[in-house]
Amino acid sequence: MAKKIVFGNFKGGVGKTTNSVMVAYELAKKGFKVLVCDLDPQANSTQLLIRTYGLQNNQELVIQKTMMVAIQEKNIKPAIVNIMPNLDLLPSHKDFVDYPDFLELTFLPNTPNYKEERMAFFTKLLQPIENQYDYIIFDVPPTLSIFTGTALYSSDFIVIVLQTQQRSLDGAEAFWEYLQTLYNEYDAIDFDIAGVLPVLLKNDSGIDNQIIKDASDSFGDDMIFTTIIKHMERLKRYDRKGISEEGYTSVYDFHDRKVHELYNQLADEIINRTNSED
Ligand SMILES: Nc1ncnc2c1ncn2[C@@H]1O[C@H](COP(=O)(O)OP(=O)(O)OP(=O)(O)O)[C@@H](O)[C@H]1O
Ligand SMILES: [Mg+2]
Repeated sequence: MAKKIVFGNFKGGVGKTTNSVMVAYELAKKGFKVLVCDLDPQANSTQLLIRTYGLQNNQELVIQKTMMVAIQEKNIKPAIVNIMPNLDLLPSHKDFVDYPDFLELTFLPNTPNYKEERMAFFTKLLQPIENQYDYIIFDVPPTLSIFTGTALYSSDFIVIVLQTQQRSLDGAEAFWEYLQTLYNEYDAIDFDIAGVLPVLLKNDSGIDNQIIKDASDSFGDDMIFTTIIKHMERLKRYDRKGISEEGYTSVYDFHDRKVHELYNQLADEIINRTNSED
């Protein structure tokens, strides 16, 4: 049974997409079967993975069917594309902004439990394919929306991404409160918090440690990941060019090695933190 994980925070631009994709990438390299499910109409994780395919294969990956169309046809399998061995993508596209309207028309307010039906719809579409994967990682927008609700409804584990700035801590706390509200509201929701992942805004700033300490006070020491994601300019290049890989891309240097080593370590910590059967 796949473990379904959401990387979340209600603040934008804190590294949700970057960390979702890099963890998925390293888990796939370790031999786990992984699906990245891009539930954000911004389609950032889709673009990053499509560019990665292009960089590593010297050819363009053509998306034949958008996820929105597949959802309308009630079969998401034909929309899934393969990025590299063990790593698949359910790609987003700008037409995914129509998903809330689609749900509102499919589950009108006279439908019993229409709010829950809307949130649960995607979970049902995932069911026929989820046993093909060890991990399914959802990328979500920074908003309290049906997109995020859809992912949380389906998920087993939440990683709260905390960039070391006050607004990200505020966003993490708001997200935590929303998680508790959802958990209490719907019996079908049954996720655990895997932890709070610190992402450094700068590598040499005193405020970083203070924010991490404040987060320990709010969430508990055990909740803070041991792996801390450093500020690495190379990650920004990945957004534009795709992820470099030893032996597969012409560019691969010690900056890439550093990124991969760190995310390899984070993937190990995610494996451990999502291993509890209790
Ligand atoms: N550790 C890091 N070091 C340097 N840059 C980073 C790091 N993590 C993310 N970034 C950069 O910060 C920007 C925002 O990251 P990302 O898109 O992952 O955030 P997000 O939370 O998914 O944003 P949104 O809320 O819009 O979905 C990107 O340009 C990304 O390359
Ligand atoms: Mg994002």
